[in-house]
Amino acid sequence: MEFFATAAFGLEGLVKRELIRLGFEARAETGGARFHTDMPGAFKANLWLACADRVMWVVAEAEILTFDALFELVRSIPWEDVLPENAAFPVSGHCARSQLMSVSDCQKIVKKAIVERLKQRYETDWFPETGAIFPVAATISRNIARIAIDTSGDALNRRGFRTYVGEAPLRETLAAAMLRLSGWDMKRPLHDPCCGSGTLLLEAAFLASRRASGLSRLFSMESWPTSASQAFHNLREEARALHQTGKLPPISGSDINPEALDLSRKHLRQAGLDGVVSVYPANLYQLRLNADRPFFIANPPYGERLGDKKAADQLAAGFGDLMSRHPGASLAVITANPNFERMMKRKAKSRRRLYNGRLECEIMMF
Ligand SMILES: C[S@@+](CC[C@H](N)C(=O)[O-])C[C@H]1O[C@@H](n2cnc3c(N)ncnc32)[C@H](O)[C@@H]1O
Repeated sequence: MEFFATAAFGLEGLVKRELIRLGFEARAETGGARFHTDMPGAFKANLWLACADRVMWVVAEAEILTFDALFELVRSIPWEDVLPENAAFPVSGHCARSQLMSVSDCQKIVKKAIVERLKQRYETDWFPETGAIFPVAATISRNIARIAIDTSGDALNRRGFRTYVGEAPLRETLAAAMLRLSGWDMKRPLHDPCCGSGTLLLEAAFLASRRASGLSRLFSMESWPTSASQAFHNLREEARALHQTGKLPPISGSDINPEALDLSRKHLRQAGLDGVVSVYPANLYQLRLNADRPFFIANPPYGERLGDKKAADQLAAGFGDLMSRHPGASLAVITANPNFERMMKRKAKSRRRLYNGRLECEIMMF
């Protein structure tokens, strides 16, 4: 079976590497990484991938130039082997740089073709769609149509506990990617001086304790009638056993905003990291850590709104001073501020360009 782990632009290579580490052969492509496995393998990918958005089961792929061809492609798929009679199969669509560019028409045609196929098998023309959900995604890019079933359900950045939304929170998948690109060795003390709601701190603790990202959440594929349920259960138990809840490297955070700190404390409590990761109020300009060669990681305000630019530039200069106050320290920062290095008066040792939502950013390592 063929699967595609979708990823934000710029993270495809990282997701490929994650898949390879999980034991799959994988190939990076625009928008994600492709791999072959069975249902338990797809479950394992859902459970462990930290930087991917979803795991899609690719059921057909072909060049498509007309609506008729799209209909025939979708009707040729043996949906009756996948969808029980009461399955709910919402169809989402995406079209880019293709002859067929009407998303709503493509969605309607895909839905109709699935129904046509199922009608023959189940000898009915009414499908109540009251059962397990099989989200179908039709993506047409450069005239190649990919028909896939979403095995994840909620996007994988949802790690399974409620998130309280603070000011400009970083997506969990992007925070996970940043940590993996940062060069943090999981031994040095890690500190986020602009921790906000604590996303980087949580992901750092998960990484250092080998906690599977999806350990405490469910995936849509778990509600499907499948003979692999026992295998899913075993994989989750295995992941639980691999989670090292013992001693972690020192991980801490600070922020100038007490409300943000409240949110981060709530998140840490929900993730069982109360007392393991500490957060406290501090202004970056005065912050001084009592730690040997600290590793700073941060997602400071970018100053993209008019009027905030000056403050963002000042803060960038503050990061330069922070580094001077901590000889031997490292810093990984994600920013869309083009002045960051100049204001910091330092040159990044390495960098990676990617997108935070629609905003073009760089992760810079100092
Ligand atoms: C983009 S948000 C960080 C979001 C965080 N990564 C998260 O996922 O929730 C930037 C944070 O920097 C904090 N901040 C701004 N100026 C600061 C300063 N001088 N010292 C410390 N924190 C500051 C803000 O309060 C805000 O929480």
